[in-house]
Amino acid sequence: MDFRRRIIITGGAGFIGSHVVRLFVNKYPDYQIINLDKLTYAGNLANLKDIESAPNYVFEKADICDFDKMLELFRKYNVDGIIHLAAESHVDRSIKDPFTFAQTNVMGTLSLLQAAKLYWESLPEKYEGKRFYHISTDEVYGALEMTHPEGVEAPFTTVASTGKNHCAYGEEFFVETTKYNPHSPYSASKASSDHFVRAFHDTYGMPTIVTNCSNNYGPYQFPEKLIPLFINNIRHRKPLPVYGKGENVRDWLYVVDHARAIDTIFHNGKVAETYNIGGFNEWKNIDIIKVVINTVDRLLGRKEGEDLDLITYVTDRLGHDARYAIDSRKLQAELGWEPSLQFEEGIEKTVRWYLDNEEWLENVTSGDYQKYYDNMYKGR
Ligand code: NAD
Ligand code: TYD
Repeated sequence: MDFRRRIIITGGAGFIGSHVVRLFVNKYPDYQIINLDKLTYAGNLANLKDIESAPNYVFEKADICDFDKMLELFRKYNVDGIIHLAAESHVDRSIKDPFTFAQTNVMGTLSLLQAAKLYWESLPEKYEGKRFYHISTDEVYGALEMTHPEGVEAPFTTVASTGKNHCAYGEEFFVETTKYNPHSPYSASKASSDHFVRAFHDTYGMPTIVTNCSNNYGPYQFPEKLIPLFINNIRHRKPLPVYGKGENVRDWLYVVDHARAIDTIFHNGKVAETYNIGGFNEWKNIDIIKVVINTVDRLLGRKEGEDLDLITYVTDRLGHDARYAIDSRKLQAELGWEPSLQFEEGIEKTVRWYLDNEEWLENVTSGDYQKYYDNMYKGR
């Protein structure tokens, strides 16, 4: 079959990537979607069970750091677009093992950029109609201060600087021109990869786009991250390790809304631009944890709040950023994207999904999910 476009999505077996792959495979039957993933501990092909037989979907097990393989795949599929999500993504792992983060996030991105450059520059039309879209994080901007008075409870209505009604713990937000100031090895590696992507635009004229998104939550997230880890622990009545005092603030976006934003930006975003993606939805960790506990308890038929005593304050994460808050008004005004879900609805859907998908969680926590590739793909 002749496809209208041929797009590599890296990290498509991971949390956000699997939602992006699903959206593109279903929405664009005339695009060929190539899911390129190394299947590290975070990659799980069971995340894509529902679309794995679609005629416009292909899976390629490969390491983005393998430059020769990247070039081979660009040629094999005559790729005209790349949406790059593959990365090491967990801050706590980056504190223990920064080398892997530099290798995958920096060198892997560079190897993809160089493969795209060599392949696209070899074509008669060169960069015409091509796109290299790099997915980054708000963590590259560093940390914001909490300037709202102590003792005032979120959600605050109407923040003066944005004129919007939303939860916020300060007047300052990350905008697209905020200076990079990463603190963790994870965010330092993402910042470095963002710089390489922009350098390939400025030096070679590659049509690149970078987006920086806030914390995502939703189905298929690896249960080492706050929300799925805590849902799983509450279910099994295991302690909930809250770092420090639980006062740190994160800005949460439902993962499907991130995937929708990626679709909009891939198609309509301006080359060389940066867009911030976020839902104006800040929460202190301790508050979100209480919402999660109450939701799990209610959905399991337990007495609401019964599991609050699982909260266990533990030593703080090293270099723990105080507050992240994204101003996504540029994306909303220029490209018309808006989050589709209110947080209350999103968290209810999320908790329900993890409780309904016990087998997925058990496979992931036991390590059995890594056999999925052998059963489904090896020898094909
Ligand atoms: P994830 O850890 O769930 O998935 C990462 C995927 O990349 C996995 O499937 C893994 O197998 C794959 N991968 C890792 N190293 C690879 C390599 N060398 N070659 C090929 N594939 C490799 O991550 P996620 O949470 O889905 O994040 C995806 C992207 O979005 C990352 O770039 C991350 O920095 C960014 N991001 C994440 C969030 C968030 O809240 N999770 C927020 C903003 C931005
Ligand atoms: P996480 O999901 O790891 O995302 P990120 O570090 O990229 O923001 O953590 C979200 C917040 O929750 C962060 O402030 C750290 C905190 N946290 C805990 O308090 N306990 C935990 O066990 C984890 C995993 C995170």
